[in-house]
Amino acid sequence: MIERDDGIPIITLASVTKRYPHDIVALDDITLSLEKGEFCFLTGPSGSGKSTLLKLLYFAEQPTSGDIFIEGINIKTIKEAHKPIFRRKIGVVFQDFKLLQDRNVFDNVALALEVVGFSHDQIAYRVNKVLESLGLGGKGRRFPQELSGGEQQRVAIARAIVNRPPIILADEPTGNLDSVRTMEVLDIMDELNARGTTILFATHDERLFEGTRRRVVRLRDGRMEVGY
Ligand SMILES: Nc1ncnc2c1ncn2[C@@H]1O[C@H](COP(=O)(O)OP(=O)(O)OP(=O)(O)O)[C@@H](O)[C@H]1O
Ligand SMILES: [Mg+2]
Repeated sequence: MIERDDGIPIITLASVTKRYPHDIVALDDITLSLEKGEFCFLTGPSGSGKSTLLKLLYFAEQPTSGDIFIEGINIKTIKEAHKPIFRRKIGVVFQDFKLLQDRNVFDNVALALEVVGFSHDQIAYRVNKVLESLGLGGKGRRFPQELSGGEQQRVAIARAIVNRPPIILADEPTGNLDSVRTMEVLDIMDELNARGTTILFATHDERLFEGTRRRVVRLRDGRMEVGY
């Protein structure tokens, strides 16, 4: 499923600044591009702006100034009505999972496909396949509170990837997991990346990328540290 590389970065931030009320500068003049198929870690201490950067990319916040391009399209120019379609290019994995507690595992994952209008059969096929690939084959009827933290995190990943988005944004996806579960999540991300998915993985945990050859972007007080 590797897309043809047309040379356009899949994500670009151009001189992006984000200020929150009370003059908090969460991101200060960030310029950064990710190539298609890249796996990039985003790191930095608490409050350095990692989550803010991801929020700008999944449309949860807007930049105060600067431009963001996804697949070469300036997101400022996307009409409100087209945003949901565009948003589906991006799967998001949150640290706190954000699973719906009153829906079972199958339905949590199916929701992402229901809104797109897949048929009942297509949904069943895709959801079961993704649950199996994440080792959750027998867990479809369970509710989130009946699962371990690691299992809940895998459901959150299943939900993010079930519609096969070209981009995965992961915000501290291993923050609540022990080291074995953490390695599992890293393996899943590696596998998705090997299939062509671009991954931006935010974590303050340096151990996750120690010794890796993957790119590491470091933030400090909203600025990118020199060297990248
Ligand atoms: N909604 C908000 N309103 C006001 N300030 C905010 C808001 N969200 C984040 N901030 C501030 O912006 C700065 C960057 O926060 P952000 O959550 O992006 O950091 P982070 O690197 O993800 O931190 P952590 O590692 O703790 O998750 C911090 O000073 C934070 O207090
Ligand atoms: Mg954060």
